[in-house]
Amino acid sequence: MAESFAFAIADGVLGKLGSALIQGVGLAWGVQTELEELRDTLSTIHALLLDAEEKQATNRQINDWLGKLKLVLYDAEDVLDEFDYEALQQQVVASGSITKRQACSAKQTGDDPLLCSFFRCYRRDHDKENIVGLLKQSSDTENVSIIPIVGIGGLGKTTLAKLVYNDERVAGHFPIKMWVCVSDEFDIENLVKKILKEMKGDEKYSDFSMEQLQSRLRNALDGEKFLLVLDDVWNTDREKWLKLKDLLMDGANGSKILVTTRKKSVASIMGTFPMQELKDLSHEDCLSLFVKCAFKDGEDNQYPNLLKIGDQIVEKCARVPLAVRSLGRILYLKRDEHDWVSIRDSEIWKLEQGENGIMAALRLSYYDLPHHLKQCFALCSIFPKDFKFSNKFFIPFWMAQGLIQLSGQNARMEDIGERYINELLSRSFFQDVEQLVPGVLYVFKMHDLVHDLAMFVAQPEYFTLSFHNKDIPKRIQHVAFSDTDWPKEEYEALRFLEKLNNVRTLYFQMKNATPRSKSFVSVAS
Ligand SMILES: Nc1ncnc2c1ncn2[C@@H]1O[C@H](COP(=O)(O)OP(=O)(O)O)[C@@H](O)[C@H]1O
Ligand SMILES: [Mg+2]
Repeated sequence: MAESFAFAIADGVLGKLGSALIQGVGLAWGVQTELEELRDTLSTIHALLLDAEEKQATNRQINDWLGKLKLVLYDAEDVLDEFDYEALQQQVVASGSITKRQACSAKQTGDDPLLCSFFRCYRRDHDKENIVGLLKQSSDTENVSIIPIVGIGGLGKTTLAKLVYNDERVAGHFPIKMWVCVSDEFDIENLVKKILKEMKGDEKYSDFSMEQLQSRLRNALDGEKFLLVLDDVWNTDREKWLKLKDLLMDGANGSKILVTTRKKSVASIMGTFPMQELKDLSHEDCLSLFVKCAFKDGEDNQYPNLLKIGDQIVEKCARVPLAVRSLGRILYLKRDEHDWVSIRDSEIWKLEQGENGIMAALRLSYYDLPHHLKQCFALCSIFPKDFKFSNKFFIPFWMAQGLIQLSGQNARMEDIGERYINELLSRSFFQDVEQLVPGVLYVFKMHDLVHDLAMFVAQPEYFTLSFHNKDIPKRIQHVAFSDTDWPKEEYEALRFLEKLNNVRTLYFQMKNATPRSKSFVSVAS
């Protein structure tokens, strides 16, 4: 599936082959003819790739062929990078210094990312009132009660929890409010750290032992009336939950824990209140959300034919707002009936689906991305769920990977990177923008299902490994290691890294781990 960006890699290699620097080295080394031949062959393959990439979702042979081709393309890219390096070295020797890359004076061209993440929440007033009512109830049997909200992915659980969390009545009722995203890993130590961080701000807890963390948390909550949201919980291990619960039970009477989860089994393990099953939106509300995403204000009246097809597309989204939004954004500005029909009748809908077509909708939205953005998106998969990306961290990361295409534009790479982020925001691949320094520094996240999609399209090339992994995927190119599974001894980590000889990116999450020694960094790189 990761083969879907073979086109973008071929594009990059072709661009490099055409550069004056490479041509110069080709001439000096007498391999000009070979380079020309490579360029010819690649141009032919390039022309076929678009077609092949479209077919690969339904054809395993094509998928396999694309996978092999991509490895060859990466090799070609490596050779050309060596040429590039050689050419640069010659320049340095010739001129005594590297001429600085000409920084263009192009102004910030990216739109304000917030503009793209417009949002209106439909028809959740009733659900909101219901949950607010439950939160204000007190209980005779326990001090701290737990209310689970259950529903399929993308239905609006987190959105509803946020509506409640930000409601003034709720803020008035609970002196302490904490929001913790849990996701796949129910690691108690990490969760306690996250909860403490929510309460106390940015205090660092990396050096604290588990005992210290526990007593901190108990003391902090003792006798306080709090609201804790545990968003997106997957853990079905009752013992683990009871361990965490035990640390939270000293809150004052009336304290509440609001849990969102896709799994009923999670809700029944955790809940002390009956689970609140989130209902889907009505078809009319979904259609209205779709129209808002696909048309400019009032423009829909001019296209009754498209509205009719839109209605059928919405039907396929099983009333899941995330799916409705993603497909609406694909069709934004597309006014050719053919484009709409091809989404409605896509083969992707027939593939085996997880939850009610949501993955099909997201996959369609992925296929619609321009090629350069497909790789940028896939790279997100090596970061953990609920990771807060910042533009200042992420754009250089893309740049280092060679994923930002200048293609003769009179703009700085950083500005093009901002445009990429905006494009991904406007298509609902990114969300929850928070401006830290308005227009300069902002953070954003991915929906957990969108992260699932990124992992799906990125494998086997982009992978999160653990130091305990025995099987290393053959085509792996970009690897992330999580914070929690570092071996005790550094040499064990190094021995593992030696096995990853073809890898282009190593990303270590060092949130809580102690920094590695200098020698480790130099050997690992
Ligand atoms: N009631 C709603 N009206 C409009 N859009 C919604 C609504 N609920 C959810 N959404 C959109 O759908 C996306 C998924 O919602 P979210 O609350 O994250 O789902 P869940 O937590 O159930 O997976 C959100 O990004 C939001 O844009
Ligand atoms: Mg959620």
